[in-house]
Amino acid sequence: MTDIRDDVRETFTELYGAEPDGLWSAPGRVNLIGEHTDYNEGFVLPFAINRRTVLALQARDDRRLRVASAFADEVVEIDLDELVPELLHGWSAYPLGVAWALGQFGADLAAMPGVDVYLESTVPIGAGLSSSAAIESSMALALNDVWQLGFDRPTLAKVGQLAENRVVGAPTGIMDQSASLLGQKDSAVFLDCRSLDAEVIALGFAEAGLELLIIDTGVSHDHATGGYADRRASCEKGAKALGVESLRDVSIDDLPRAKDVLDDETFRRVRHVVTENQRVLDVVRTLREQGATAIGQLLDASHVSMRDDFEISVPELDLAVETAQANGALGARMTGGGFGGAAIALIPSDGVSRVQVAIDGAFAEHGYGQPTMFSVTASDGAARE
Ligand code: GLA
Repeated sequence: MTDIRDDVRETFTELYGAEPDGLWSAPGRVNLIGEHTDYNEGFVLPFAINRRTVLALQARDDRRLRVASAFADEVVEIDLDELVPELLHGWSAYPLGVAWALGQFGADLAAMPGVDVYLESTVPIGAGLSSSAAIESSMALALNDVWQLGFDRPTLAKVGQLAENRVVGAPTGIMDQSASLLGQKDSAVFLDCRSLDAEVIALGFAEAGLELLIIDTGVSHDHATGGYADRRASCEKGAKALGVESLRDVSIDDLPRAKDVLDDETFRRVRHVVTENQRVLDVVRTLREQGATAIGQLLDASHVSMRDDFEISVPELDLAVETAQANGALGARMTGGGFGGAAIALIPSDGVSRVQVAIDGAFAEHGYGQPTMFSVTASDGAARE
């Protein structure tokens, strides 16, 4: 099998007629637990996966930015002086949006040279595995190096988030870019989205004889439109009605009072966030004290909360989760923003194929499209290759 890095280097050279200055890469992520908690200043526990964007870049002697990728047959060009969110569209909004966002964080774009970029990715698109954060993080790291900006990784994560929010137009939180930039092999990133303190937590899946299976339902979702922004708005409404800055300030003990104050729907949105924050803390504690085999019920409870309280699941995700649970998974839940995308299941390694066969069968029986399933391992974050 050819290494994607060789492909990227070769295609860059064919396209631009010169060798790149270097290669950078960044992974997608899967969220183990802590969903829709990041923009509520809560806790998340994602990990970087063994699927990456690889990017080749060369500095130019003028002010042109040129980006190309395996996603599209076009080379998108813009001058650094013209770089504004309104002019950026399609896939190129991710890398070019990062260049713009670096300027918002204080990089003196007027003094920077243009760059040529080519990228490819093994992170599946639309599966809820943050293919977009993988592009943003690889571009942020590459420009930080080549432009010698000296930003630290937490700042580069914020840069990627700003590109996503302002250029792509998705009102997402800080989780995805943080996982992609801060991830470490065999570990998850326990992130406090209020202080942005991050701690690396050993997962120990392989030692415990476990695999984490991704079940990509193929149901597409788009966080720049619809449900994601609605949920975020409900959380803000709940926080306001409860007189707190964010739902991070609401504890489980506060829920009875919240029930009296809020309408039923807003209350259930709030209850999801508050209980999910607690589940993240419980998973971290359980991983430390008892190991990965003991976290299954917390994953299951997270799914129920997203299905019934936050209402971001879809029938295909519910079926994937229930079928995995009924066929030997220790725990399962939908992962990511919801309304489609993927579920995860934590399964003893020798039982993975049984779960896969059962899910394939259940999807066929319901007349759903065939899901894509593969195991992921926790990997290192963004790096210069
Ligand atoms: C998407 C967003 C994240 C986070 C999750 C839900 O993946 O990009 O910031 O809000 O949804 O947990």
